Amino acid sequence: MTKHATPDERVQIFREDILDGLTRARKTISSKWLYDDVGSHLFEAITELDAYYPTRTELEILKKNAAKYRRLPGARGAMVELGSGSSRKTDLLLDAFQDLSVYMPIDISANHLKAAAERVRRAYPSLAVIPVAADFTQPFGKLPLLPELPVLVFFPGSTIGNFETTEAARLLRNIREAMPGATLIAGVDRPKAEDVLLEAYDDPAGITAAFNQNLLQRINRELDADFDLAAFTHKAVWNAPESRVEMHLESLKAQTVTIAGEDISFARGETIHTENSHKYSPEAFSAIAGQGGWRILDADTDPDGLFAVYTLQTC
Ligand code: SAH
Ligand code: AVI
Repeated sequence: MTKHATPDERVQIFREDILDGLTRARKTISSKWLYDDVGSHLFEAITELDAYYPTRTELEILKKNAAKYRRLPGARGAMVELGSGSSRKTDLLLDAFQDLSVYMPIDISANHLKAAAERVRRAYPSLAVIPVAADFTQPFGKLPLLPELPVLVFFPGSTIGNFETTEAARLLRNIREAMPGATLIAGVDRPKAEDVLLEAYDDPAGITAAFNQNLLQRINRELDADFDLAAFTHKAVWNAPESRVEMHLESLKAQTVTIAGEDISFARGETIHTENSHKYSPEAFSAIAGQGGWRILDADTDPDGLFAVYTLQTC
């Protein structure tokens, strides 16, 4: 994971993944591809929306409990953050962790990561900030961390919910193997009323729709494709049996799109499944954590129980 792919390799990986997903019986694209420069900025805009309750709720939980998290061993060593985005939530922990020596944000969105790391460097000059632009679903290589430093892994935002449950357990296992003995702080969204969930993932201002549609624009930009944006619409669906909100892009007509020289046909009403956002009860999350080799030490929530921040230790 610490080996940086060249821009050519990145485009090749993107092309292969997109064509693989769009030639399946049920068309699907991994949600990790939502985050190019434009997608990362649109995600930031989502976090400001009234309808998108997770960000403000998790911030409230982190603020209330930062002094408690400060007592974790890693708070005096190295903090590794997965899917760090703008690192705004991190500020709450960095303000509380005055003895932290290293901050290592890991994110697939390279330019956004670089800008966030620069901001953190300026705001916390005594901290060694080591950004790693990488896909954390790939096996973790050796991270440039000092073996004597205790490690705290920060995985906020309920990004763990964007994986299928077996993939989530595998990712937790990979984290455990890459950073044995680490403590993990993970933000996890909870099940709640369907109308609240659907409003959060199909907001009235249309920012989430733009975030989803940007994926087609990205494919047009990077893979010489000809998606007609007006012929696909954003759809958010609550899948109750799987306890997840799904994002799809629905084809409004029968059409053929050319991507990197390949023709891909769509029936009217056919969708591309672009994201899962699982909502886990404490029991469901505890089971996945257990499969990944972690046990829950502590759980913090907001007064309405919308969102949870778990502290975990390896079993
Ligand atoms: N932690 C921030 C951002 C969450 S958005 C918050 O809580 O608000 C999810 C972040 O994870 C994005 O910045 C995205 O670029 C990153 N991401 C998604 N999939 C990834 C992957 N496979 N590898 C690395 N980063 C990924
Ligand atoms: C980053 N991730 C946890 C967000 C979520 O809520 O699943 C991404 C997102 N998708 C639509 N809105 C926000």
